[in-house]
Parts: sequence; C-alpha cells; structure tokens
Amino acid sequence: MSVQTIQKRRTASAIRTLKGERPIVCLTAYTAPIAKLLDAHCDLLLVGDSLGMVVYGMESTVGVTMEMMIAHGQGVMRGSKAACVVVDMPFGSYQESKEQAFRNAARLMQETGCSAVKLEGGEELAETVAFLSRRGVPVMGHVGLMPQSVNATGGYRSLGRSDEEAEKIRRDARAIDDAGAFSIVIEGTVEPLAREISASLNAATIGIGASSACDGQVLVVDDMLGIFTDFKPRFVKHFASLAPEIDRAVADYAAEVKARTFPAEEHTFQMKRQKL
Ligand code: KIV
Ligand code: NA
Repeated sequence: MSVQTIQKRRTASAIRTLKGERPIVCLTAYTAPIAKLLDAHCDLLLVGDSLGMVVYGMESTVGVTMEMMIAHGQGVMRGSKAACVVVDMPFGSYQESKEQAFRNAARLMQETGCSAVKLEGGEELAETVAFLSRRGVPVMGHVGLMPQSVNATGGYRSLGRSDEEAEKIRRDARAIDDAGAFSIVIEGTVEPLAREISASLNAATIGIGASSACDGQVLVVDDMLGIFTDFKPRFVKHFASLAPEIDRAVADYAAEVKARTFPAEEHTFQMKRQKL
C-alpha cells in the first residue's frame, strides 16, 4: 500500500481543536450503510447507546450490552473512513470502578477500532475519566440529562432552570473537563447554562437540546431523518420525512407482488446467460 492511499481518520484531539474555529457536526450512527452516507458530512459519528431504543425497541438505554455496542461499533467503523468514531460505554460497564471502566473501554477500542469512548456522569466519574484519559483512552463526557440514570433521576425533562440544578451541571461539566475529556455532550439543558459552560471549558461541547451556543451539535440520526416519528421532542428537527416515504415504497411493493407486476421481465432470469 502506498503512503498516499492511507486515508487519515479525524482524531479526538482534532475534534477538540475545532472548538473556537467552527461548529462541530455530529450524528449518531449504528450501521455500516448509514455510516457510509454520513461520513462525508460529519466530523464525528457517535455509536450511541440510544441504539437500545432506536434499533432494538427497548424502553431505555439501561439494557444495552457491551456486545451490542461492539457489533454496531464494528459496523460503523467498516462503513466510514474519515469521521472520528466514538462508541458509548453502556450502563454497568464503567460505573463500578476505574479499572472496570478501563477494561471495557480498551475492549471497545480494540474490538471496533473506534477513536474514543463516551460515558455519562459528572463529579462522581471524574476520577474514572482522568484514569482513562491518562492511559490512552480519549473520553467524551456527557452531562445534563443523562439517559442511563433516568431510573434514579425521574425521567426525561430539560434541566438547569433552578440554581441548584444549574450548579450541579456546572460542577459536573467542570469536573469532567478538568479530568481531561476531549469533548462533552450537554443534553437537555437551558441555553444560558449551555452557553456559559461551553465558553468556560477546554473540552468541545456537543449539544443535544442544549442550544446553538455549544461548540457542536448531535442528533439521533433516525430522529433527524424522520424515520422515528412516534413523538418529536422540542430539540429534534426533521430534516427529512423518511417514514411516509418508506410506507409508500412498501405499500407499492405489496401491491405489485399481489398483482404479479413485480418482479417484471427485467428482474427475471431466463435460460440464456444473464448478469446478476
Ligand atoms: O446515545 C446517544 O445517542 C447519545 C447522544 C444522543 C448524545 O448519547
Ligand atoms: Na448515549
């Protein structure tokens, strides 16, 4: 292989460097074909544990396993060439100890080839983030609304209106930043607080439901494509409406199968040699 053909993937530190230069573009991805479509446009692809809901129909992210994250991380890596790929650490894979976190983070990186891992948590996870960061694991943090903790915190709602709530998120973000995270997702957080945190941290902040003041944005790809439409949170924008398009395509297919108009002659093999 000649040197020129080696395509360099964006690194975690390159993502960090974009802070202050231009907004960072991120989406979630769970499969190779979607990763391939997103790769040219996104700085970062997040293999989010939202795949529990989006891909597997679970009610929360709590049931997502390491094996699921590895399988989908491998798919996203195979489908992409340029984007920095970050894989979520699932619930239960890092909270017990910093050693447990390192073991599982290393496994995600070794088995998928991803550039970094993401974990949810604030001050209580700062020691773990520092432990990983100093041992060669680039860490993306995640503060504000933390879906893995909804069983303890009481559900999905936007945060940061009361002084107490704002101070908690501020301290969490600060602690993860001090611990060496290259980037921090801020989820479901009011604009003034997201703006203040983004301006004060070294890490690049990536917002979801956290205003345009963050250093970058992320959305769940099925949400922004209008594939998942059971409900639309305020922070989601449908950049396409694929659900009705898929519905129409499948209805047409069903009608053509029943009418025997599909497959037509051009889709049919005859006895003379024909290309697949
Ligand atoms: O799991 C996920 O998709 C996420 C992003 C929405 C930040 O954590
Ligand atoms: Na997640």
